[in-house]
Amino acid sequence: MTDITFRTAETTDREAILNLNIGAFGRRDEAEIVSRLEADGDALLQLVAVMETDIVGHILFYAIRIDGRIGAVGLGPMSVNPWAQRAGIGSGLVHYGLRHLQDGGVSLVFVLGHETYYPRFGFSEVAAAPFVAPWKGPQFMAVRLRHGPPTSGRLQFPTAFGV
Ligand SMILES: CC(C)(COP(=O)(O)OP(=O)(O)OC[C@H]1O[C@@H](n2cnc3c(N)ncnc32)[C@H](O)[C@@H]1OP(=O)(O)O)[C@@H](O)C(=O)NCCC(=O)NCCS
Repeated sequence: MTDITFRTAETTDREAILNLNIGAFGRRDEAEIVSRLEADGDALLQLVAVMETDIVGHILFYAIRIDGRIGAVGLGPMSVNPWAQRAGIGSGLVHYGLRHLQDGGVSLVFVLGHETYYPRFGFSEVAAAPFVAPWKGPQFMAVRLRHGPPTSGRLQFPTAFGV
């Protein structure tokens, strides 16, 4: 496959990112969540995977409040163009994103997603279990990037998620 590069998303990428989300999920819901997170100022970090000049992958990280204070980060939505899936692009985006967040001092990242996909990056249900959240179960996971707080508390998700 042609070389893939990863970089932070720019304002001019917005339309391509929304179209990518619609194509990968086969519906508009996640694209609308991306737009809403941006509009509300809750999107912390967005990365894209670029093949030649095309955006073929996207990942978004957003702020989570714990007991009312900024305390953790959430992953999602993420998407890879259907014809470019299973080639490591999604994994590259997750690894690049987690490294960036760890360098920035983030301790904890949560995800609600495929229970057979995210554990390969260190996410586990066990790490999310001490926190009070709108979700429970194997699809709600966390990965710890640094020791120390937060270790418990009530998670508040951006309004874009409607929870
Ligand atoms: C999930 C997604 C981002 C993965 O991107 P990718 O570039 O294909 O991922 P990678 O190439 O790094 O990894 C491929 C692995 O992901 C797994 N995978 C892909 N979709 C999956 C799913 N729905 N459930 C579980 N595993 C999945 C593949 O089985 C493959 O596993 P293997 O390495 O054991 O064969 C991509 O499939 C996608 O955009 N899917 C549609 C949107 C979506 O579901 N986003 C995630 C929301 S939580």
